Amino acid sequence: MISTDIAEAAARLAAGGLVAIPTETVYGLAANAEDDAAVARIFAVKQRPTDHPLIVHLAASEADTVDFGGWAGVVAPGARILAEACWPGPLTMLVGAGPRVHRVVTGGRPTVGLRVPAHPLTQDLLERTGFGLAAPSANRFGRVSPTSAEHVAVDLDGVLDDRRDLILDGGPSAIGVESTIVDLTVEPPQILRSGAIGDDEIGRLLDTTVDAASGPSRAAGMLASHYAPNARVVLADDRHQADDLLAAERQAGREVAVLDRTDDLVVAAQRLYSDLRDADRHGVETLIVVLPEATGLGIALRDRLTKASADRPSPTG
Ligand code: TXA
Ligand code: MG
Repeated sequence: MISTDIAEAAARLAAGGLVAIPTETVYGLAANAEDDAAVARIFAVKQRPTDHPLIVHLAASEADTVDFGGWAGVVAPGARILAEACWPGPLTMLVGAGPRVHRVVTGGRPTVGLRVPAHPLTQDLLERTGFGLAAPSANRFGRVSPTSAEHVAVDLDGVLDDRRDLILDGGPSAIGVESTIVDLTVEPPQILRSGAIGDDEIGRLLDTTVDAASGPSRAAGMLASHYAPNARVVLADDRHQADDLLAAERQAGREVAVLDRTDDLVVAAQRLYSDLRDADRHGVETLIVVLPEATGLGIALRDRLTKASADRPSPTG
């Protein structure tokens, strides 16, 4: 099931199969975006509600065309600026959907999320097939995202079909948290999900203020609870608070661990999802995580950690 064979991955996509693709952010579970049956299978495999739209991943050559290869309607000047500055890379733009976008991908919305991923294996696959690849993160809905081929194999064991599907192994994801999502269909633009390209950087590039997401939840990443391991995640503002929480958890007789990577946020992001998975593998019941400061990558990390900890009572009440 795990392979590095791009020709085989292309053949399976052409035959309607699903291919887990490596990207610089996290692994995606991809189908030919114009094959409705294959796209429908993504939702089934992930157990994802069909009203949570999928991002369409594009070849870099399509980003250079006036309508992003037919995937966007009118490309506004702001979208052109961001495409030139950030693609290929960890940025998803919400734009008006073009003629190639099928209903099943967007749940019938007039907008589509587009991204040109930077991972060379996946870029090669995109250029080779000419497909747009509809792909969410390759985990079961609501759970921890995968940053390696092995993570995907564990998560989707038994639901992917050996004869039709494939996991393309491109090594560990370099960034480790999902792309920044910018909605360019509203004025001013909104950040729907923070990522490695900071909110402030988007504002600088567009030379405008950008808003944090508002209105009804439009992205799964905007749900209160997401990215959740089995362990209960408890957040600490600093090491001192973490130590207090640790003592209290030990006192209560629970299996507990502390995760503190605040000294290097790049590594913290790269390892975040592996760290959460490791906690589960080691039978940790309570994982105390020290929050980084809310600047740069720290904003994305705090967002993911807050969602991983949501709806779970903390030991301090
Ligand atoms: O880094 C990433 O973005 C990864 C890699 C695989 O590219 N993909 C990813 O996909 O994180 P997913 O499906 O796990 O998260 C995409 C988010 C979802 O919350 C989805 O609801 C939202 O983007 N989204 C996609 N298209 C949308 C649209 N047209 N309107 C509103 N939200 C949209
Ligand atoms: Mg996801």
